[in-house]
Amino acid sequence: MTTGLNRREFWTRSLLGILGLTVGSHALAEPTSQLSASVSTSEPNRKKRKLGTLEVSPIGLGCMSMTSGSYNPPRSKAEMIPVIRGAVDLGVTFYDTAEVYGPFTNEELVGEALAPVRDEVVIASKFGFDLSSGQRGGRNSRPEHLRKAVEGMLKRLQTDRIDLLYLHRTDPNVPIEEVAGTVKELIKEGKARHFGLSEVAPETIRRAHKEQTVTAVQSEFSLMERVMENQILDTCEELGIGFVAWGPVVRGFLGDKFNEQSRFSEEARLAAVPYFTPEAIKAHMELLFLVYKWAREKDATPAQIALAWVLSQRPYIVPIPGTTKLHHMKENLGALSVQFTGPELKEIRESIEKINLIGFRKPESVLTDL
Ligand SMILES: NC(=O)c1ccc[n+]([C@@H]2O[C@H](COP(=O)([O-])OP(=O)(O)OC[C@H]3O[C@@H](n4cnc5c(N)ncnc54)[C@H](OP(=O)(O)O)[C@@H]3O)[C@@H](O)[C@H]2O)c1
Repeated sequence: MTTGLNRREFWTRSLLGILGLTVGSHALAEPTSQLSASVSTSEPNRKKRKLGTLEVSPIGLGCMSMTSGSYNPPRSKAEMIPVIRGAVDLGVTFYDTAEVYGPFTNEELVGEALAPVRDEVVIASKFGFDLSSGQRGGRNSRPEHLRKAVEGMLKRLQTDRIDLLYLHRTDPNVPIEEVAGTVKELIKEGKARHFGLSEVAPETIRRAHKEQTVTAVQSEFSLMERVMENQILDTCEELGIGFVAWGPVVRGFLGDKFNEQSRFSEEARLAAVPYFTPEAIKAHMELLFLVYKWAREKDATPAQIALAWVLSQRPYIVPIPGTTKLHHMKENLGALSVQFTGPELKEIRESIEKINLIGFRKPESVLTDL
């Protein structure tokens, strides 16, 4: 197994794991942790990236885990508003939410947190599910449902327009042209500014883009989940569409939040992720060790390496790491100071391609909508 850890560090990690504790990056990253605290967050993150014609900070903030219960119990507004406002102070202008997160509570949180700086930030939200029971139901993108959903979103977000309005998942009963046409009307009415799609096939992107310009496609993309390299990124490039990467630190794994010794409780959403079965995590430790090796090389933290790699793949990719901690947000912005040379990227590519990944999507899976 390739490892950037010495034996003492490895066994410290294993022992803590056996005790049922998750080892955080600080325990493992002693040589690099000072840097994460001192990373400059002022200059590089003021430079913007373009998603189509929409300008955003090069790293956004994914707000889902603040209230969804996906990776941690829902946190209170009192705890999370300072995290979101702290991100604004650090220069982050791009905030990601969805009506299904909560449901609804995440948009309420984001709306309240960003209300005082509404004109300085870009708010992205997503529709596409039937939430009439107060729970996530089936998919629904019918025009009347979509219009009603947007009214609710505007209210919760305390705004008169959604900067980037995504279709979260396609509805098999509604042609994508019809969804794009409804969003086009909403844009004309000033209720949305840009149109986005999430987890869709290249053909769906093309069909939608013909009806209404697509500004961004959002899908999972990281050092581990690279399936979007099959046609999706190229389609975006060809059409001038931006790409927003969710899961860029592999839901915390490449931030060293958990490891092969960790066990998730049954209700934790991570327990159901196919690439986090005990067998899969064991196999994926090799990638975490590789990330540590590069973290040492670059005086960075593992999460910064994971994010810097995503940023280095194409200039129109904007990762939106999710966090409930301002110090993680600050650390993540430090990725903007990490640069890889061409030969380094080639070396990383060769290394990651040798690692046997378990539980990830097959390349052909992206050719149909998720
Ligand atoms: N379009 C879609 O279908 C879709 C699906 C899922 C998510 N999303 C969006 O994408 C966003 C990001 O994706 P994600 O949250 O699933 O995955 P992610 O960003 O890869 O991982 C989030 C997890 O990583 C941890 N983390 C973040 N920075 C860290 C650091 N520096 N060190 C250690 N751990 C760190 C966070 O824990 P802490 O809270 O402890 O920092 C959190 O548990 C979401 O918030 C959501 O807005 C979209």
